[in-house]
Amino acid sequence: MTAALEEALSLNIPNPSHELVQVVRGRRSGLAICVAIHSTALGPAAGGCRIAHYADPSAPVADALRLAAAMTEKNALAGLDHGGAKAVLALPTVPRPAGAERTALLHDLGDAIEALGGRYIAGPDVGSGPADMSVIGERTTHVCCRPVEDGGSGDSSLHTARGTLAALGAVADEVFGSPELAGRTFGVIGLGAVGAHVARLLDRLGARLVVTDVNPAARGLAKELGATWVDPKDALAMEVDVLVPAALGGLLTARTVPLLRCAAIAGPANNQLDEPATADLLAARHILWAPDVVVSSGGVIHATGVELRRESEERLTERIQGIAATLREVFHTARTHRTTPAIAAGRLAGQRVSQTTTQEG
Ligand SMILES: NC(=O)c1ccc[n+]([C@@H]2O[C@H](COP(=O)([O-])OP(=O)(O)OC[C@H]3O[C@@H](n4cnc5c(N)ncnc54)[C@H](O)[C@@H]3O)[C@@H](O)[C@H]2O)c1
Repeated sequence: MTAALEEALSLNIPNPSHELVQVVRGRRSGLAICVAIHSTALGPAAGGCRIAHYADPSAPVADALRLAAAMTEKNALAGLDHGGAKAVLALPTVPRPAGAERTALLHDLGDAIEALGGRYIAGPDVGSGPADMSVIGERTTHVCCRPVEDGGSGDSSLHTARGTLAALGAVADEVFGSPELAGRTFGVIGLGAVGAHVARLLDRLGARLVVTDVNPAARGLAKELGATWVDPKDALAMEVDVLVPAALGGLLTARTVPLLRCAAIAGPANNQLDEPATADLLAARHILWAPDVVVSSGGVIHATGVELRRESEERLTERIQGIAATLREVFHTARTHRTTPAIAAGRLAGQRVSQTTTQEG
């Protein structure tokens, strides 16, 4: 256990912008679990469980705070009656525990979620998947995305990819004057669960693909799709129409923005900007950035729709396609107010939260 987390365990960390920030020690695993609930103004807060090793001891709490706030924006902009939250379990080492050790930490996570009495509904995130949700579900009912055979909605990555495609149509329309994706060139960074679906869907529509991944095994998919492969270190400098980040967050920074050779960026990777000011650097280079909180919302729309709202697949498809309309509204607001899409998305999310709470009040 790190010193910062040890210290955090002794207090309920005060944070004026979040409703609740809690660090508890798992009684089985001895590991620290941080749960941040940013807002329940629209309804129970929904967000994933991140299980990861952090080199910086203060990073897990900071990550939970940041990711929970982003979930409030994502859920509000997706039109969901859910607030935003995130759980972060900090692993002591990079290798992930397996077997009984993993079960113990997942049961600890389940207890931490259950203790919140339904204010927080958990799902998968980096380091956790549908099978883990079933194990967490042995300790709490407030969990989504268990495998379909266990009664859940399963892996959400295809739905996140479908939402990304809808977003790419809106981006193409904004930048090139047509939502047509055929013949355009897309640079997909990361061919994991979501990125591989995005690449396949784009290929099916007749788009040209440039792809990369740190995992050399992903070259197989590149070959299958006839995509051009670039080295991961050259990913940001790909000369493409639209760059599609589908790996980890934090890739857009003051150092990397000058390297870009694309007209727009829109991808499912969460938290792509290292800090809010990076949105201004992109705008200064006339590169359109589609906020990831909008682009990546297909998964949460589908999972909560199936498991909590019992919506039909037709209705869910409509909602996922609706990501394009939301993005158009974000771009329109940004243009009208001479601001960045990042600021416009934050404003639109804030408006939905305050309108709903005013109506209810
Ligand atoms: N899975 C979902 O439904 C979902 C929903 C919303 C947002 N997201 C976000 O989308 C992103 C991708 O999610 P995923 O579920 O596909 O994850 P994943 O772990 O399955 O895939 C990530 C891929 O990126 C690759 N990668 C990692 N670092 C890289 C780098 N520096 N350069 C190139 N490739 C790199 C990995 O090798 C892996 O293949 C994440 O940021 C995630 O938080 C996912």
